[in-house]
Amino acid sequence: MKTPVIIAYLGKGGSGKSILSSLTGKIARAKKKKILYIDADPAMGLATALAVDGYKTMGQAREEIIQQARTAGSDKDKEEILDIVDYLLLEALYETPHYGLLVMGQTDSIGCFCPLNTLLRSTIKTIASQYDVVIIDAEAGFEQISRQVTDAVQYPILLTDNSLRGVRTAILAKETIDRAPNMSPKKTGVIFNRVTEADAGLRGRIEKAGLIYYGSVPIDGQITESDRLGQSALKIPDDADAIKALKTILEDEGIL
Ligand SMILES: Nc1ncnc2c1ncn2[C@@H]1O[C@H](COP(=O)(O)OP(=O)(O)OP(=O)(O)O)[C@@H](O)[C@H]1O
Ligand SMILES: [Mg+2]
Repeated sequence: MKTPVIIAYLGKGGSGKSILSSLTGKIARAKKKKILYIDADPAMGLATALAVDGYKTMGQAREEIIQQARTAGSDKDKEEILDIVDYLLLEALYETPHYGLLVMGQTDSIGCFCPLNTLLRSTIKTIASQYDVVIIDAEAGFEQISRQVTDAVQYPILLTDNSLRGVRTAILAKETIDRAPNMSPKKTGVIFNRVTEADAGLRGRIEKAGLIYYGSVPIDGQITESDRLGQSALKIPDDADAIKALKTILEDEGIL
């Protein structure tokens, strides 16, 4: 059994979680690591950044199970979550020669006995050891931390821009992580994204809150261009400024 490196990107809406998740996989892949991406955002931004379609989401796979259970007239309950996880992995794990991808999808199904976040947590536990690096693109907001989806994460990476609102959100994320009973990250730090140089005052707030300042990733025209064309972020060249900056951070911090 491998002990995978498990990273989660967290931060306010639009802070760069999906794009930096995809680029992190690209950097790890160049190091010959086996990658699992987890798109835990119902908006499915990571799948979009990777330009994949034709996958089945965990939400869809779950619906199928529910339908089958109804047809069979059985009375499933939480104890069967492990069977469900096996089925979900079989149905919803999207594999390419370069990476695996699990897309959580929509979280509706009101009153469902198997909330997707719970399934996602069990799924991560079940499958992570088959990979070297697991990268989670989390939902904006911190419900998934409180709902223990991120329990196994060693490296929560909080993203912000050069704004007080972004920094406050990052600090709130840290407080939520500190309160999460089963989460014990190796280190928790902040990347300023789309920023050439972090504002000294904002950086001070981050450090005062007990967070590590990891560095900044600049605005990168190659990301903008990739967005414009709707191409996979994995096609962005290795020498793009954002990739170089992110790689330096992940290596210097001992994450990759
Ligand atoms: N360093 C960067 N340089 C250029 N564009 C960037 C950079 N970082 C992010 N972007 C662009 O900003 C937009 C928001 O980024 P992204 O979708 O990754 O954020 P997010 O945190 O996942 O957002 P959401 O909360 O909506 O899921 C995207 O179009 C992305 O390509
Ligand atoms: Mg996103």
